[in-house]
Amino acid sequence: MDAHPPPRLFPVTLLAVIGLAGCGLELAPAPPRPEADLSALAVSFIDNTVPRDPLPLLAPYAGVMVGIIDSAASAISTIARLDRPLTDTEWTGTGLAGVNIISASTLLTLPASGPDDARRLADPRWRDSAEEMQSASVLVLAAVQARDTQRLRLAADLLKNTCQACHRVFKQGSRVDGRDFASRS
Ligand code: HEC
Repeated sequence: MDAHPPPRLFPVTLLAVIGLAGCGLELAPAPPRPEADLSALAVSFIDNTVPRDPLPLLAPYAGVMVGIIDSAASAISTIARLDRPLTDTEWTGTGLAGVNIISASTLLTLPASGPDDARRLADPRWRDSAEEMQSASVLVLAAVQARDTQRLRLAADLLKNTCQACHRVFKQGSRVDGRDFASRS
C-alpha cells in the first residue's frame, strides 16, 4: 500500500457544504460545476475500497465486561435455566446476546485503555481465553438456530466456565462496578 495516501479533501469539502446548507446560512451562490465532477465526489465519499486499520477500542476491557459481556451472559444463563419450552422472543433474545459475546470477544483482542490492559493483551493466555469464550458463544448461537434447549444449556455452562477460567488468571482482586463508567470526573 502507498505509505502516504493522497489527502481525502473532497469528502471533507462536501461535508462542509452539506453542514452549512443545513444551518440555513446564506452563502454566495457556488460557481456552477459540471455534473461529472459531482458524481465523482459522491463516489469518493463512499469509497470503502482503501484498506484502513480497525478503529481503536477506546474503552478498557473492564468496560467491555460490564457494558457488553455481563448483561449478555446473564440473559443467556437465565434463559438457559428455564425449565419449559422457550418462546420465539426468548430464542431471539438469546441469539442476540450470543452475538454480543461473539463480537465482544474480538474487542478483547484489540489494544484497550485500561491501566493493566496492555500487559493482559501481551499474555498469550489472554487471547486463548477470549477465543474460548467466542467459541462457546458460537455454540450458544448454534443451539439457538437449532432451537435445541439441551444444547443451549450445555453451551451456557461452557460459556460460564470460560468466564471463570479467564477471571482466575487475570482478575485477581479487581472489582469493577458498572457505575464506575457513569461517575462524574
Ligand atoms: C479474556 C479474559 C476474560 C474473559 C473471557 C472474561 N472476563 Fe470478565 N473480566 C476479565 C478481567 C481481567 C476483569 C477485570 C477488569 C479490570 O479490573 O480491569 C473482568 C471483569 C469482569 C466483570 C466486572 C466485575 C468484577 O468482578 O471485576 C464482570 C461482571 C465480568 N468480568 C463478567 C464476565 C463474564 C460474564 C464473562 C463470560 C461470559 C467474562 N467476564 C469473561 C477478564 C475476562
